[in-house]
Amino acid sequence: MNVALPVLREMSAAVKVERASARLVRISLTDRCDMACVYCRPAERGAYMPADERLSVAQWEAVLRGLHAEGVRRVRITGGEPLLHRDVLEVVRRVAALEMDDLAITTNASRLAALAGPLRAAGLRRVTVSIDSLDSGRFAAITRGGDLAAVLAGVAAALESGFDEVKTNTVVLRGVNDDELPALVRWAWERGITPRFIEVMGVGEGGNLWREALVPRAEMIARLAGLLRVGEGERDDDRGPAKYLRAADGSGRKVGFITGSTDTYCAGCDRLRVTSEGKMRPCLATDDGVGITEAGKTGEPGAVAATLREAWSMKPDASWKGCTEVTARAVSMLATGG
Ligand code: 5AD
Repeated sequence: MNVALPVLREMSAAVKVERASARLVRISLTDRCDMACVYCRPAERGAYMPADERLSVAQWEAVLRGLHAEGVRRVRITGGEPLLHRDVLEVVRRVAALEMDDLAITTNASRLAALAGPLRAAGLRRVTVSIDSLDSGRFAAITRGGDLAAVLAGVAAALESGFDEVKTNTVVLRGVNDDELPALVRWAWERGITPRFIEVMGVGEGGNLWREALVPRAEMIARLAGLLRVGEGERDDDRGPAKYLRAADGSGRKVGFITGSTDTYCAGCDRLRVTSEGKMRPCLATDDGVGITEAGKTGEPGAVAATLREAWSMKPDASWKGCTEVTARAVSMLATGG
């Protein structure tokens, strides 16, 4: 399947560096999704992981408790589409009880209208909604059937539910939605949302289109000329790779840019991913990872730590170029959650 993997394993061993352990974990609650974005997955549905291989709520709790003991302090719930998981509220409740510094979700918002309030009540702090167009026809085309009205209702519900922060993610595609950047920024700012624009990456289905569809960050910024202060941008401490530029009007509003293709940010990466079948993965751009043992899934002290150490030792070093590496194409975004 993935012919590049043995090579990568050798490379990882050669370039491995000691780095501080994971601080942030992204948990992919399910690989199911009710959209099929053109840069993420093929049109065909199905071929999901068998349900009985997925971690139970109790196993998620045990794994996250173990990771907390090892210094992980921030949790982001992803998918697939995490709100399709029937126990998502219970997972949020249990993770919230672990007193992490942050608990956020990335969602396509198809079910957020009904779930925003309950998620907030369960202890979720922040929400990021993926939204690639404000035009319903375009939105349906990019997502292969997504319903923009439902997503907008989800965003409105999130704004009413009192989350600490609501952000949007827009994957910018040349000739598809790259004329919408100013409109998306204005729409977001009017609502107190921080918009973020993502360079399409050659990961998953993105491998088929990223070279033609990529709009580099510099070009995105040029398209927003007048709205933003010029500069390199600042990262939010401990909050991932986005760099933010501020509004030209001095309002303090921000726009984030994520440059997974023109300027990879592997140096200093302290992210770990855990997939719904219980695999710890040190890097989005490879399928490398370590299965969590039964002992880890039952919360036996030290068992999660042992898996984490092994997964972390596979983390590529700073010379690694993330999702521009050939291994990225074979990665399933659906199973990994971006
Ligand atoms: N390139 C860039 N971003 C991607 N995402 C999914 N696939 C890709 C890709 N090939 C984004 C989604 C979502 C986040 C979790 O990952 O749009 O916002």
